[in-house]
Amino acid sequence: MYSVATQKKIQCLDLKGQHQQIKKEVFEAFEKVYDNTAFSGGPFVEEFEKSFASFCQTKFAVGVNNGTSALHLAMLALGIGSGDEVIVPANTFIATAWGVSYTGATPVFVDCTSDTWQIDANKIEEKISPRTKAIVGVHLYGQPFDVDLVADICKKHHLYLLEDAAQAQGAEYKGLPVGGFGEMACFSFYPGKNLGACGEAGGITTNNEEYYKHLLSLRNHGSKIRYYHDEIGFNMRMGGLEGASLNVKLKYLEGWNNRRKEIAKRYQQDVNNPQITVQAQPHWANSIYHLFVVTTDDRDSLIKYLHENNIFPGLHYPVPCHLQKAYSVLEYKEGDCPNAEYLANHCLSLPMYAELADDEIEYVIDVLNRY
Ligand SMILES: Cc1ncc(COP(=O)(O)O)c(C=O)c1O
Repeated sequence: MYSVATQKKIQCLDLKGQHQQIKKEVFEAFEKVYDNTAFSGGPFVEEFEKSFASFCQTKFAVGVNNGTSALHLAMLALGIGSGDEVIVPANTFIATAWGVSYTGATPVFVDCTSDTWQIDANKIEEKISPRTKAIVGVHLYGQPFDVDLVADICKKHHLYLLEDAAQAQGAEYKGLPVGGFGEMACFSFYPGKNLGACGEAGGITTNNEEYYKHLLSLRNHGSKIRYYHDEIGFNMRMGGLEGASLNVKLKYLEGWNNRRKEIAKRYQQDVNNPQITVQAQPHWANSIYHLFVVTTDDRDSLIKYLHENNIFPGLHYPVPCHLQKAYSVLEYKEGDCPNAEYLANHCLSLPMYAELADDEIEYVIDVLNRY
């Protein structure tokens, strides 16, 4: 019955299928970059910036070299620096916090809820101090956090709101695409993302022209006019080949996201093993399922069983940010963010990518139900 699926390993993510499908188109796009020697920034990056801003329904998008730089530059554009504090979720990829630390500011970690696994808005206010300047909400796993709740707290305490949308290109909150809810939103186009470049890339969207102009300068050595430097800047431009690959892939993104939604629906409806808990999805969250994370009491045993059945789940993420060694200086301890800690110890990510075949999905579901 599962002859195709059982013969091959089913990984959490496999990028080969997607890249084979669009290889010809991407290579043609690369050829244009090559012929134009438009390797750093240039027309193909600008084309992507325009299309991506339109995709996110924002006025502006700025392409940069990766999502971590996007976070770093967004913090700088807000004027955040040494002595400031920025609230970030404990349950996220570490780069959310790097953006804060690179400026000299301090990340202050807030626990996630026990069911959506997104930042717990009820636990934010107790972490606000006179030094707090901003809150970064993360649309983690491709599912929007509750933007209105966090935005209300920002308004009340005069804080900036930033979206970390690194995993959420095309996700919607209350019917609107992520990317335009805060001062700025930061995206990663790392190859494994739903919209991933053939290389490293990232971007920032905003509706604010002042931030936009500042970001253009910051990514380009603090320069608006060549060889005149208004401030200490960075070389964080997006490469032309990356931009060109993103122009091709953006056209396919909605279809790929829809396929992920179909797969997620199958998992949500058909995995009926009570030992497996899926992420709660509020009605206002239209996730693009960058990851399909579940929890289980005895993770090691489930992983061993899945491996025996040729299924290789991922772990996103095994250590919450507040307990990472890099942040030991901040002296968090176990128990500070119990939901994030539970998740780190019990989560695993099921296979999720648009090219998963129907019989592979059925096979994964069947194996999970037989556990
Ligand atoms: C939530 C989150 N923030 C930030 C980043 C950083 O992006 P990049 O890997 O492109 O630097 C990532 C991606 O890895 C991410 O998942």
